[in-house]
Amino acid sequence: MRVILLGAPGAGKGTQAQFIMENYGIPQISTGDMLRAAVKAGTPLGLQAKDVMAAGGLVSDDLIIALVKERIAQNDCARGFLFDGFPRTIPQAEALCDAGIDIDHVIEIHVADEEIVARLSGRRVHEASGRIYHLQHNPPARDGVDDDTGEALIQRDDDKEETVRKRLAVYHQQTAPLVGFYRAQGAGDENRAPVYTQIAGAGSMEDIKKRIFSVLG
Ligand code: AP5
Ligand code: ZN
Repeated sequence: MRVILLGAPGAGKGTQAQFIMENYGIPQISTGDMLRAAVKAGTPLGLQAKDVMAAGGLVSDDLIIALVKERIAQNDCARGFLFDGFPRTIPQAEALCDAGIDIDHVIEIHVADEEIVARLSGRRVHEASGRIYHLQHNPPARDGVDDDTGEALIQRDDDKEETVRKRLAVYHQQTAPLVGFYRAQGAGDENRAPVYTQIAGAGSMEDIKKRIFSVLG
């Protein structure tokens, strides 16, 4: 099964990706996590991405497309995968089509902008595993540390309110057009087009998980 999770920053893509990965046994491919790892390791990709990410902009399509193609060529992707945060522009979506990579489901998690700022200001993450917490909605068992490893949780550099607002503006301008792109594909008579479903992202993490699982079957 090949799935794209679409949604604004803070919509809950990473949170739901962990549930989907566990239940359906497909790897999560988060371009954001891959880029953050590259920045931390100081690789050439990381050096190119660092400032753009800190400012809330998008890394160039060419770099992202090369990164994703390399990732999906790996063995663990043979039975399917889950894209989280990719594609994020029309050229990225077109690159998938051009490469003949068919997608089964596009699931959009829809959350209002006002809710996003509250979610991201309370987010804390365990960097090594990618586990995601929220100070109010999903707190760790002990303040400031990961439940499994006991290691410190951090706040992402791009979760400052002004950067969140910039990321939201970029989402509406460059990523939201993908909704029309995939809906139009689904409405066509091409039988390899993905099924497009919009899910309400308000409610508990468990509620949203149920909505997604009922779509994926
Ligand atoms: P990326 O890492 O993809 O960030 P994003 O899309 O902005 O999304 P987030 O990770 O912020 O949010 P999420 O939807 O995963 O929400 P989460 O589950 O954590 O990208 C970062 C940057 O990398 C980009 O800005 C760009 O520069 C670059 N980049 C990445 N991919 C790229 C690409 N393809 N092309 C170009 N550039 C790219 O949840 C958020 C919080 O809410 C958490 O605290 C969580 O606990 C809480 N929460 C979740 N669900 C609920 C709920 N139902 N109720 C209450 N709280 C909830
Ligand atoms: Zn995420």
